[in-house]
Amino acid sequence: EELGVVAVGFSGGQCKPGVDAAPSALIASGLLTQLRDELGYTLHGDETVHLYRDLVPAHDPPHRGMKNPRAVSAVTRRIADQVHAHAAAGRLVLTLGGDHSIAIGTVAGTTRAVRERLGREMALIWVDAHADINTPETSGSGNVHGMPVAFLTGLAKEEREDVFGWLGKESLVSLRKVVYIGLRDVDAGEKRILRENGVKAFSMFDIDRHGIGRVMEMALAHIGSDTPIHLSFDVDALDPMWAPSTGTPVRGGLTLREGDYICECVHETGSLVAIDLVEVNPTLAPANDTGAHETVRAGCSLVRCALGESLL
Ligand code: ARG
Ligand code: MN
Ligand code: MN
Ligand code: MN
Repeated sequence: EELGVVAVGFSGGQCKPGVDAAPSALIASGLLTQLRDELGYTLHGDETVHLYRDLVPAHDPPHRGMKNPRAVSAVTRRIADQVHAHAAAGRLVLTLGGDHSIAIGTVAGTTRAVRERLGREMALIWVDAHADINTPETSGSGNVHGMPVAFLTGLAKEEREDVFGWLGKESLVSLRKVVYIGLRDVDAGEKRILRENGVKAFSMFDIDRHGIGRVMEMALAHIGSDTPIHLSFDVDALDPMWAPSTGTPVRGGLTLREGDYICECVHETGSLVAIDLVEVNPTLAPANDTGAHETVRAGCSLVRCALGESLL
């Protein structure tokens, strides 16, 4: 099978440096080699990590409270084209982030390609401790990595082309096709948005109550069979025990096996069109220096499971 790889060394959607070092760390730990040699993928694109320096303006003051708005907009616009090119060629797309703002680009790219190729609407599975559905107005931080789902569903709109105005209708995902898994740190304004729009969301409470097996059945039933799926996996969905090296860790999260199981179930549908792995920050290693290594290892495991590695 054909796999398009986009390695995104970008951290402008939030304030902590280091998340841009994740793609190199994931690649250095052998992820792409494993996908090629053990899972049999033909890889397209290269091992170059894109830094998009040419797209980051020297002067980028806040707009509607958003930090680095022009940089994030320009970089995600470029990513959308990269991802679209792979998906339009019929390749599964793997994007290694980078902070979660980059999903504005990855999802815009796949949703457009799926519409063009299949005339279909795509579903988005967002695995995360956070809902990342703040609008610029509800956001307390101004960090765009807390807003991608709002822009991708049209909840947040902007006229200015250089600040996400380039996101056209063809790049948007329906809120009815979004499913969250793993939520446990959702801002008050985000809770209101989720409630008012009836967005399908499975929090850690639901996982404790029903178990991950039942939650995945319900999540995939909501999407319906034969719907193309984009899986956007924020490594902070995992408990910090498994993934400590991330910018906004929240305790009480998924075990590594639960994370892998989510990916295995999505693979099993046969409908996966793209996966993002984001928010691995190898430079943040609280408590001990094995934290970064463990987080990178967990990230590799999630990707391999989504791409078809099975236990037996
Ligand atoms: N809700 C908070 C915010 O809007 C945290 C978002 C964290 N997002 C992430 N992709 N790790 O800033
Ligand atoms: Mn490339
Ligand atoms: Mn998160
Ligand atoms: Mn996130």
